[in-house]
Amino acid sequence: MTEHIYAHEHPETERRRDGGFTLWFTGLSGSGKTTIAHLVGPAIEERGPIVEYLDGDTVRTHLSKGLGFSKEDRDANIERIGWVAARLTRHSAAVIAAAISPYEATRQKARELVEEWGTFVEVHVATSVEECARRDVKGLYEKAFKGEIKGFTGVDDPYEEPSNPDVRIDTEQHEPEESAQLILQHLEERGLIPAGVTA
Ligand code: ADX
Repeated sequence: MTEHIYAHEHPETERRRDGGFTLWFTGLSGSGKTTIAHLVGPAIEERGPIVEYLDGDTVRTHLSKGLGFSKEDRDANIERIGWVAARLTRHSAAVIAAAISPYEATRQKARELVEEWGTFVEVHVATSVEECARRDVKGLYEKAFKGEIKGFTGVDDPYEEPSNPDVRIDTEQHEPEESAQLILQHLEERGLIPAGVTA
């Protein structure tokens, strides 16, 4: 029988500080979180760690099915992602979470869950509402501006900018490949992944 699974329930259990890490992307819808995440992931995997993705859009079809976009539901979504990220981090995975995660306090909660077992790296994909709306990959901004979708993040729902992210990516200055490189460099500098072979 396994008696000591959860450190917070069994304080006597030694916490594993040598776990993996969670790379947490936050930013507006269409800011480029998923695009960058899927460039970073394979590069991490090439260097050893097993990568798992927890993308808002995917999570909402499974783990968070039925949740909407009220503050309460968004918080529940982020806490679920944070919880799963923590469990995977415990097993030394490199977790890549990508959800708008608009509320600072809830991102902090996710950080705390993950930091029980490993490292939390917050990446702010900083793309302005104007630029996201210009790209409008999913056509949702047009609908939000017309009022056909209510409570859309950045239009008529809040996005609390991270006050102190580990990495901030300005996607209006960098191509996605370049952004991915900046993140990999940060992970290298913190010793979370081995240095890559530079061409
Ligand atoms: S979060 O706020 O709970 O972190 P999440 O990242 O999971 O959001 O989902 C955001 C995605 O849901 C958007 O990229 C968009 O495709 C879709 N979406 C639908 N309605 C909304 C809304 N009201 N606000 C933001 N995104 C929405």
